[in-house]
Amino acid sequence: MPLIEVNSLSLAFGHGAAANQVLDRVTLEVNAGESFGLVGESGSGKTTVLRCLAGQYSHWRGELRIAGKTLAGRLDRDRCRQVQMVFQDPYGSLHPRHTVYTALAEPLRIHGLDHEAERIDAILDKVGLNGDFRFRYPHQLSGGQRQRVAIARALVLQPRILLLDEPTSALDVSVQAEILNLLDGLRERDGLTYLMVSHDLGVVAHLCDRVAVMQQGRILECLTVDALCDDQAQHPYTRLLVASSRADGASRPLAEAAA
Ligand SMILES: Nc1ncnc2c1ncn2[C@@H]1O[C@H](COP(=O)(O)OP(=O)(O)OP(=O)(O)O)[C@@H](O)[C@H]1O
Ligand SMILES: [Mg+2]
Repeated sequence: MPLIEVNSLSLAFGHGAAANQVLDRVTLEVNAGESFGLVGESGSGKTTVLRCLAGQYSHWRGELRIAGKTLAGRLDRDRCRQVQMVFQDPYGSLHPRHTVYTALAEPLRIHGLDHEAERIDAILDKVGLNGDFRFRYPHQLSGGQRQRVAIARALVLQPRILLLDEPTSALDVSVQAEILNLLDGLRERDGLTYLMVSHDLGVVAHLCDRVAVMQQGRILECLTVDALCDDQAQHPYTRLLVASSRADGASRPLAEAAA
């Protein structure tokens, strides 16, 4: 049984003639322990799929299941513990006047979990930050450190699933690789399951097993990363993405040489 099942998920914003159909019968499955990528042009609905799974919208139609359990529109405590989301911009997801400790303690308090200090030390260690970071504020951290704290906050409740929305695209290239390696290691160590949005096929190829390609609220195709790298994509749009990603890769050394 897949851990995440999205079946014919549709969502519109607005009503009547002004309605904007943002998701149109999106269907995908993610197996336990898998890392699944979601790619596609800006506005195609990638973030919206994650937000539906995270319980941030309730007016969708279709079926969502986690570990065989059908999700209702409203958020329940169980789902919060099982499914956590990491956003692109860790500045936006961390409260500017809360220390790292407070940011990590908050979900523990909401869920009534004990051994707060021990859990916080352990989770900071897991994301590669030492205890000295506990009393820092977000503005006292680098971009990469902030994203480590955001990942720690998502993991502190020991979820099974991380929904990752472009987790490295706001970061410097050198730091991107560090965070991707951290995510990769965490998944292996803790048997986590990832559903990850990225506009960077290189990132997806590095971190994911399978990928779904979205356009205008629909899934165009779903294929393994091996097939994608092996030029086996069927859909012209996917082929275009692959071609432009290769062109980017080729132009990067040229751009560096010119600088
Ligand atoms: N709360 C909202 N109210 C109205 N429209 C929304 C809302 N959230 C998203 N949309 C619209 O839904 C569409 C899909 O948005 P979404 O954020 O899922 O795209 P995306 O694929 O994540 O794009 P990007 O790659 O730029 O992040 C867009 O047209 C957006 O304007
Ligand atoms: Mg998005």
